[in-house]
Amino acid sequence: MPDNVHTKFLLNEDEMPRSWYNIAADLPRPPDPVLHPGTKQPVTPDDLSPLFPMALIMQEVSSERYIEIPEPVRQIYTQWRPSPLYRARRLEKALDTPARIYYKYEGVSPVGSHKPNTAVAQAFYNKEEGVKKLSTETGAGQWGSALAMAGAFFNMEIEIFMVKISYQQKPYRRNMMETYGATVHASPTNLTDAGRSILAIDPENMGSLGIGISEAVEVAAKSGGTTKYSLGSVLNHVLMHQTIIGEEALLQMERANDYPDVVVGCVGGGSNYAGISFPFIGEALRKGLKTRFLAAEPMACPSLTKGIYAYDFGDTVGMTPLVKMHTLGHDFIPPGIHAGGLRYHGMAPLMSLLHNEGIVEAQAYYQLSVFEAAVQFARAEGIVPAPEAAHAVRAVINEALKAKEAGEEWVILTNLCGHGHFDMAAYDAYFAGKLQDYEYPAEAVAEAQMRMPVVV
Ligand SMILES: Cc1ncc(COP(=O)(O)O)c(C=O)c1O
Repeated sequence: MPDNVHTKFLLNEDEMPRSWYNIAADLPRPPDPVLHPGTKQPVTPDDLSPLFPMALIMQEVSSERYIEIPEPVRQIYTQWRPSPLYRARRLEKALDTPARIYYKYEGVSPVGSHKPNTAVAQAFYNKEEGVKKLSTETGAGQWGSALAMAGAFFNMEIEIFMVKISYQQKPYRRNMMETYGATVHASPTNLTDAGRSILAIDPENMGSLGIGISEAVEVAAKSGGTTKYSLGSVLNHVLMHQTIIGEEALLQMERANDYPDVVVGCVGGGSNYAGISFPFIGEALRKGLKTRFLAAEPMACPSLTKGIYAYDFGDTVGMTPLVKMHTLGHDFIPPGIHAGGLRYHGMAPLMSLLHNEGIVEAQAYYQLSVFEAAVQFARAEGIVPAPEAAHAVRAVINEALKAKEAGEEWVILTNLCGHGHFDMAAYDAYFAGKLQDYEYPAEAVAEAQMRMPVVV
């Protein structure tokens, strides 16, 4: 019998999992190799060493099922972890659904999202190897805030290329990063060759995550080894650091005496959804469970539902190694939806592989229906979701309504990966009727996909 009495399922600090879960140990087939952009041969650890510290490169290719979380990282995690698992009783009631809805709430971190789970780990491993400075990009500003905070904790310099449209939409995110001591630029900038090449073609360019990555990678690559690059999503080690979410959720669901039929999350690069879902996917693969896994993405940038599964660059200009992933084309610039963290042309290779193998389903949603769900959630549960997280909320509400129609007591688990306290301009625009739905930009995607690298 599920626990129908409690609203929150909490773990104490001593119960926080001591390891991250590495899904590479349980995949139905080995991941495709990462390729060198010039030779198109598999990259070696040395190829990646100008950008990342060796500890993270080794995590990237590890097939160990569990990797121990270093003590200094665990200690910082306890500033906000273990995060609570909520039973969404009030939302269930509002929807009049027989479904039981649970959400893990990552908005309790100091910056308001799941992003510090990897930012702290990345800063730690870089610091251990003597790196003084990290460069990165940020879309919504959640990732930039997380790395800026980690930089403050480990006394490292942080330089951030913030997508220009988000820089304008979210000035307070920039202020927060600066409060932690980071330097923030509106990208594209004229500080890098990558930025200048974009501005030469389009001086009004509002930026994208792919452009920000090009700029941040260039800063690291040209630093002579003093600066490394840090990415907030997509890469295997980043997804692995986020599995602390799902490892906690496994224990908390046990405490609730329940188990999910479906695990739902929003996907930009795939890290928060990997975080909640991978430990459950691992269990499903090992035990033959029939759990469903549903990824929610924006209709304006639907990399899983509409992308090609092929080798592509991780950035816009074409400087990164080639990874096999669902992609809309590396130079596709998504429309300026308010879920800035979901405006990425690609999807994590691990998430792409799982989608391609039929293990993870995906669904794309229009912006207006996403905000409608976010408001409904806020009025029922009190938490105002980040626009990214609101995509997951939309998917959860749809599943709960389907359960009602079918008269089934489905158990739905989701990750509410961030709060929207810095996103109120988006809510303001929604209430003022100024938000629009963007149709799937089929033509722009088809054009961008024609410019993808050819890998035979
Ligand atoms: C709150 C929030 N959720 C989700 C995302 C999307 O990234 P990912 O798919 O890696 O979780 C972002 C990215 O910036 C974000 O800020």
